[in-house]
Amino acid sequence: MKNLAPLLVIGLGLTVFSACGGGGGSTSSTNTTTPAANTAPTLATANADQTATVGTAFNYDATQAGTTFSDADNNTLTYTIAYAPNAQGLSDAAGIISGTPSLAGTVSITITANDGNGGTVSDGFDIVIANAPTNQTAIQAKFGGRIDLDNLANYANQTVPNYITKLNDGGNPITDAGATLGRVLFYDVALSTDDTVACASCHAQSLGFSDPNTVSEGVEGGLTSRHSMRLINTQFADETNFFWDERAASHEAQESQPLQDHNEHGFSGQNGRPSFADLVTKLEAIDYYQELFTHVFGDTTVTEARLQQAISQFVKSIQSFDSKFDEGRAQVGNNAADFANFTTDENAGKTLFLNAPNNGGAGCQGCHRAPEFDIRPGSGHNGVIGVANSTTESDLTNTRAPSLRDVVKADGTPNGPLMHDGSLTTLLDMINHYNAIQVPTDEPLRTNFLDTIDNRLSGGGNGQRLNLTETEKSQLVAFLGTLTGTSIYQDEKLSDPFQP
Ligand code: HEC
Ligand code: HEC
Repeated sequence: MKNLAPLLVIGLGLTVFSACGGGGGSTSSTNTTTPAANTAPTLATANADQTATVGTAFNYDATQAGTTFSDADNNTLTYTIAYAPNAQGLSDAAGIISGTPSLAGTVSITITANDGNGGTVSDGFDIVIANAPTNQTAIQAKFGGRIDLDNLANYANQTVPNYITKLNDGGNPITDAGATLGRVLFYDVALSTDDTVACASCHAQSLGFSDPNTVSEGVEGGLTSRHSMRLINTQFADETNFFWDERAASHEAQESQPLQDHNEHGFSGQNGRPSFADLVTKLEAIDYYQELFTHVFGDTTVTEARLQQAISQFVKSIQSFDSKFDEGRAQVGNNAADFANFTTDENAGKTLFLNAPNNGGAGCQGCHRAPEFDIRPGSGHNGVIGVANSTTESDLTNTRAPSLRDVVKADGTPNGPLMHDGSLTTLLDMINHYNAIQVPTDEPLRTNFLDTIDNRLSGGGNGQRLNLTETEKSQLVAFLGTLTGTSIYQDEKLSDPFQP
């Protein structure tokens, strides 16, 4: 139970004189009696935490038959209820909460009583929604012990270092059951029209959930137009939009797009391909989904929203905070001080990364911000404007990058080609790009480029020139290598449950 200190706001009850905007009346002297002071209601009996079960009707009177609050003036109280992070299928009338919870987890309730004279008071309590008790015969037949509803892996309460402060969970926090369903969906080729493609086909665990190919292959040889993105620490960021060009407004909105993409999972409904409704029908007929959806959502219905919730909980749970950087950062308490566990070159690379160009640095921190290394919201593009597999087109819309954590594997080689077009294959190529950004010479591309490149990188119209020495470049490469962890590559709960 969260002990919300009762929020007392004493209603002043003053009549507002029509001093301004009062409709032009000239008789403002009629309202001069001083009204009796109002006494705000008070908390009498706090609500205890409540329990509920997904899929089972719930009903609770948060006014406790009018005894939760009392009001010395005997004013009639009206009630409002707030749900955090969201109502999960519950609603209320006159202080009575009812509905069928749609997802397990904890909903924090704040009930506020208002006496109609400006006096209010609140009480807070939790409704803890448990998963539906579910038979898991089909799950055990399919996954053996790799998925066990009675002993779920820990996705929701993973350790996050105290210096990680950004959180973008989209109001859909991770639950163990939701992420477990998300894991199965992420690895399931049944989510493609021809049973060949899963999310994991283009987001491989061994590669930081990315793809070694420049562009990725979806159903029937269809190709994506951009390079696949690593899915690391996606919820530890300020930028809320997803994809290189930020066209998805949230994690949840992103997750169902690949399913309906003609060239990815293929449920586009175009050119004779099945539609999203066909995917729903297909999944509802699979026995292990009947059990998993019942466990997480209370019944076997598959909807786009449920798919989004579960898959995005799994993706958000892919978190990487066990790098050499984290070890050093935990010891010194800030990003800038030298880390005791770093080599001289790694520390020098860190300083170059953090410092602005006018301060002898490379300015990377301006957009890829330590310690999350998330992209700065509102960044322009970085001067990489190619289109994968094309020599003639250009694309000025790419303003998001995944966290720079795990950009390379433990051996220092990249987890796949870099940038939206996969045009830079080594960290040194990448640093050479930022060291001397090339501005196109042909119009109108030149003007469009200069209008859209982030002004940190425009170099006054000539493209940024950092004039880094070869030593400094290798120091930056050494530093980027410290951002790689180990657990995400091995963690069983992030692995393919279809593989014994
Ligand atoms: C055929 C390959 C392919 C498949 C299948 C695929 N993706 Fe992707 N994914 C990509 C590519 C390519 C991008 C970058 C696309 C862009 O920005 O235009 C991407 C981007 C993303 C992003 C955005 C990351 C960010 O930081 O903005 C997320 C999240 C994601 N994919 C999750 C998924 C999930 C979940 C699935 C399964 C439902 C999936 N992907 C299936 C290729 C694929
Ligand atoms: C003005 C903002 C900005 C600055 C400054 C900046 N970047 Fe970037 N960075 C981006 C954007 C935007 C992208 C994605 C661009 C794309 O794919 O076209 C990106 C992409 C990258 C990538 C590729 C990530 C991937 O997953 O493929 C790396 C690595 C990178 N930057 C490192 C650096 C380094 C090192 C520096 C400093 C020398 C730096 N960046 C400076 C904005 C910036």
